[in-house]
Amino acid sequence: MSVVRVILVGLGARARIWRRVVAARPDCRIVGLVDQRVDAVMAAVAETAGAVGGATLAEVTARVAADAVILSTPPGGRDDQIAAACAAGLAILAEKPLADSVEAAEAHVATAARAGVSLAVGLNFRYLAVTRALKALLTPEQMGRPEFAHFTYERWRDGRLPHLNKYPLTMDHPMLWEQSIHHFDLMRFVYDAEPTTISARTFNPSWSMYRGDANVSALIIFTGGLEVTYQGTWAGNWQPMTFNWRTETPHGVVIQADMFGALGYARRDDAALTPVTLPAVEPWVDDAAALFDDFAAHVRDGAPLPCPGTDHVRSLRMVAACIESSMTGRAVDPRVPGLQRTSPS
Ligand SMILES: NC(=O)c1ccc[n+]([C@@H]2O[C@H](COP(=O)([O-])OP(=O)(O)OC[C@H]3O[C@@H](n4cnc5c(N)ncnc54)[C@H](O)[C@@H]3O)[C@@H](O)[C@H]2O)c1
Repeated sequence: MSVVRVILVGLGARARIWRRVVAARPDCRIVGLVDQRVDAVMAAVAETAGAVGGATLAEVTARVAADAVILSTPPGGRDDQIAAACAAGLAILAEKPLADSVEAAEAHVATAARAGVSLAVGLNFRYLAVTRALKALLTPEQMGRPEFAHFTYERWRDGRLPHLNKYPLTMDHPMLWEQSIHHFDLMRFVYDAEPTTISARTFNPSWSMYRGDANVSALIIFTGGLEVTYQGTWAGNWQPMTFNWRTETPHGVVIQADMFGALGYARRDDAALTPVTLPAVEPWVDDAAALFDDFAAHVRDGAPLPCPGTDHVRSLRMVAACIESSMTGRAVDPRVPGLQRTSPS
């Protein structure tokens, strides 16, 4: 395969990054552009030499040969897109979350497996230099195995801004499905552990512009006993954002104080954090590009599939466990199919 031919489905906010990432590579090319909005397709086709446009993926795969598809559509209602990708034998890179329910995500994973098609999910935060550096600090040789942590993400997300997507305004649990999914995935990735028990509470502050709950508080217990206290909100009532992820280990603490950097560590008696030097990055772009590198290597050379859908479902189960725990007031084991309840912890 000389060039990896890509069809991009969904030409909204996130697609701007994907178009840039693919266009920057001489060995990949966008050959198809799909959206329900005719004007968006026409504008994108006009800017992409040789690309075919259409309203559905099936329509475009009938007109152009391709190797892979990026699904940059809202997570709900992707059945037809997955079916069309499978019918055309295209490797799939789907934006997170893969679906708006665990059941639908599992169905997509099963459909792809039956068709023999690879299915990856766009968990770009795994590819940030700060994420890799944090993970490396938590080895036995460095700071040691974490025993507890807190993860705080407090943001005033003005969902009415023109450059932001609009569907989260009316979603059930927009914070969990759209944002916390990244955080839960990061916890599993960085700690290399699986959640065993989740107690959570979701709610919506009176000033929230979201129809569904913008606030999530959770206590998450992982294999090995690690306990993480999580607070996430899109309705934090101050414009400057707080991101603070502090992990406690036998030797001291590791603190990430910014979504894209600001990593430091300290031994118990240190007077100050020792900052970790990180490379300069362009947020959203470099991380997506690094993820796409691995995806393209898989499509072209059979390298390991990054962020497989089978793994992503485990993070989605954490989202569903938070919802169930908040509804029932009970602790939930997210690993159990059907989310069977455990005793309150
Ligand atoms: N990984 C990240 O950091 C990151 C960041 C932002 C968004 N996202 C994800 O990217 C996805 C898209 O988000 P967005 O912000 O671009 O949303 P958006 O609403 O701005 O764009 C979605 C586009 O998909 C089109 N669309 C909807 N249904 C379609 C269908 N059935 N067929 C064809 N086109 C359809 C819409 O017309 C729209 O143009 C979501 O899953 C979101 O969670 C990921």
